[in-house]
Amino acid sequence: MMADRVTICEVGPRDGLQNEPVLVATPDKVKLIDLLSLSGLKYIETASFVSPRWVPQMADGSDVLSRIERRKGVVYAALTPNLKGYEAAFAARAGEVAVFASASEGFSQRNVNCSIAESLVRYREICRAAERDAIPVRGYVSCAIACPYDGPTAPESVRRVAQSLLDMGCREVSLADTIGVAVPQQVETLLAAVLKDIPVSAIAGHFHDTQHRALSCIGAALRCGVRVFDSSVGGAGGCPFAPGAKGNVATEQVLQLLLDEGYETGIDMDTVRNASNFIKNLLGRRS
Ligand code: HMG
Ligand code: MG
Repeated sequence: MMADRVTICEVGPRDGLQNEPVLVATPDKVKLIDLLSLSGLKYIETASFVSPRWVPQMADGSDVLSRIERRKGVVYAALTPNLKGYEAAFAARAGEVAVFASASEGFSQRNVNCSIAESLVRYREICRAAERDAIPVRGYVSCAIACPYDGPTAPESVRRVAQSLLDMGCREVSLADTIGVAVPQQVETLLAAVLKDIPVSAIAGHFHDTQHRALSCIGAALRCGVRVFDSSVGGAGGCPFAPGAKGNVATEQVLQLLLDEGYETGIDMDTVRNASNFIKNLLGRRS
């Protein structure tokens, strides 16, 4: 019998680094990505094409994408907030783009400087351009559990935004606990609401590990049938516009959980550990 397969989307080079106050040199970003792509990870969020005034750390996205060693079968994705970002990502040969909506108005305003509805108009434009260019689009729903500005999020708001993203052409929607406050029960409640209309194959989980409950939340999502999870090597990360948000759950921890539970991932632990040591040394947090 074939083991149940789980996909890990590595977001370290983007979500892991975007919040670092000290600029990471482009060659170090490239080295990190090249270490990661050796591991069997098939999806690496490599850069973001947002305003360099808003996120200076991500200003070298084009350079990063032009210098990485592109390994066959690996998707090098980029985060894009609007058409300007999309065009830059496409020109840099991003293999996929990700749009990022919020389930809460407060975070939408702080993160992309517009309402949820306005952001969805921009994302629809991106989806249209991407369809023309045959570039797949992934969607995020931030603050799927709670918002640092508006408090707890209603599962219905998450379901609505996720459905809009799928309707406009996103191939998958990643539900994000942006500030890392979820408990497993909330994940189950959220998924019960979302999965009423949306097939579980279109849903991914994105957990930040602020309260060290990300792994138990992933366990809950696995029990609900979710088979795609975002993580960040070394547990790096955070969002500059979500105060208190700590790092993403660490890729090596998610991998260990999946190995323990008998899931197939196609990812080599030692190679991920190498990349983890590299980023920890880089950021001055030795393992
Ligand atoms: P704005 O200031 O409203 O933009 O920002 P604007 O359209 O008014 O333009 C202002 C200036 O920015 C103009 O330049 C534009 O050209 C420029 P000027 O004429 O003044 O010289 N500009 C751009 N430059 C480069 N690339 C672009 C771009 N767009 C405009 N794409 C904007 C609106 C969306 C751009 C801004 O709010 C922004 O960049 N936000 C991004 C914030 C961000 O990156 N957040 C972190 C990622 S999301 C996240 O971490 C959550 C996630 O991990 C899931 C989770 O955990 O929840 C995904
Ligand atoms: Mg995130």
